[in-house]
Order: sequence, then structure tokens, then C-alpha cells
Amino acid sequence: MLPDLERLARQAGELLRLGYEQEHQVDYKDVIDLVTEVDRQSEAFLLGEILGLFPGHQIVSEEIGLVPGNEIDQWYVDPLDGTVNYAHGIPIFTVSIAYARNGVVILGVVYDPMRDELFAAERGQGARCNGRKLQVSRATEFKRSLLVTGFPYDAWSSPRNNLENFGRFARMTQGVRRLGSAALDLCYVAAGRFDGYWELSLNPWDLAAGGLIAAEAGAVVTNLDGQSEHLTPPCSLLAAPPSLHAKMLEILSGKV
Ligand code: IPD
Ligand code: CA
Ligand code: CA
Repeated sequence: MLPDLERLARQAGELLRLGYEQEHQVDYKDVIDLVTEVDRQSEAFLLGEILGLFPGHQIVSEEIGLVPGNEIDQWYVDPLDGTVNYAHGIPIFTVSIAYARNGVVILGVVYDPMRDELFAAERGQGARCNGRKLQVSRATEFKRSLLVTGFPYDAWSSPRNNLENFGRFARMTQGVRRLGSAALDLCYVAAGRFDGYWELSLNPWDLAAGGLIAAEAGAVVTNLDGQSEHLTPPCSLLAAPPSLHAKMLEILSGKV
């Protein structure tokens, strides 16, 4: 099945690339949570293909929600992760597709069409970018580390806005980036480009594929309580090499 996911991610990514920097029809789901017509085109393409190949499977996809099916085979689809970037013409966005069996993510693919980087993992088989094996960084110290995070769409009003955590890590690391695509953040942890990632208030389609890719590249992947379950919304996630994960968790749980 992994080649199917890779092909679908590439084809959906091509739709995003073709629409990039065009005039978009932007609709607002909330004050700052937006969706473009390209999110919907990419989703319609992916859902049609998945249901054509695997009839009866269940799909959870960002814009349409739940497509009911059997409860054994489940897909998590983010047709465009990084919509705010996309709407502003910033070339940082991805397609994210994961397949889970009995609640366990088995396959994950994230495609960055602007750099033509395809990140893919199968549980137990490692993670790859364009065929090259991925390995998390060996960083052990915050002062040698570059981290990445994100902020929820309700950051204006919610106390769980992640700003305090951001401030703490910004004062003890080489920096904390905010790329705007959670799926890509996780792939960059897998590639050793970032030394750690955390975020609160996500949805399973944001992190199902990237979480597997990071884990298969050697990251410890948990929720912010340190437990491995991270697909039940509102999801939180911490992905970091074993050498940093426990230290990051301590800081995020306010114990330091
Ligand atoms: C968002 C991105 C962003 C993260 C947000 C997500 P979207 O997804 O992954 O990096 O900080 O929490 O909702 O809306 O662009 O698919
Ligand atoms: Ca997303
Ligand atoms: Ca999205």
C-alpha cells in the first residue's frame, strides 16, 4: 500500500503546486482559521482515490470530517497542511496521509511539493525522504538545539496558546521556529533538521503521518503527558530524539 500513498500524495501535491500563487477563494471556518478552494480540490481528489482503491475503509479528513466505514481500516488525511502559508503565497505546505489498522498508524506519507521532498514510513521499516533513510539528530543540549512548534487557531482566546512554552524554550535553545505545517515540522525532526517539536490542540490528520515518520526515524513520540496515545483530539504532541525528549517533557509539564 505504501506506493499507493506515495503516488496519491505526489498527485495531490501537484494540485497544490499548480494552485500556488494563484488568486484564491478564501472562506473562514473561524476568526483566523481559513480554507481555500485548493484544500477542497485536494481533499476531493484524495478521498475519491482512497475510496476507489479501498472501498469500505473509514476516512477522517480535515474539511469533510468523517467518511464512515469499517472501524478496522482508518485513514487520516490533511489535504493541505499549511493553509495560512498557502493563502499568503509562502511556499511551506504539505499533503499528509496516514493509514491506521485497529487504531495503530501503519503507514504515513508527507509530501512537500515545492521542494519535491516525499517523506514516508511504514511501521517497523524506518523512515525515508526520497528514498534516503532518515535519522533524528544526536543533540543532547538545548544550547545546541533548534526546535519547532506551532500555535492553535484559538490562540487569541485560549489560555492553552503555547506562548509561555515558546518563551521558555526560546531562552534556552538556538531558536524556536514556526513553519506553519505540523506535518512538515515532524518530518524535519525525522531528518535531524530540527532537534525537537511540540504542539498542543492539534487534530489527528495534522500528526498521524508525521508522528509515524518521526518515530520510525528514532524520535520518541508522545503526547504532552508523556503517553504514547496521541490521536484523540484535542491532540498534543512531543517528538524529539531520546536524548532530549525527557528534558523537553519536564519543561512542558512545568516541572522545571
Ligand atoms: C495547521 C498547521 C500549523 C499548526 C496548526 C494546524 P492547517 O494545519 O499544521 O502548523 O500550528 O495547529 O492546524 O490548518 O494548515 O491544515
Ligand atoms: Ca493541518
Ligand atoms: Ca489542512
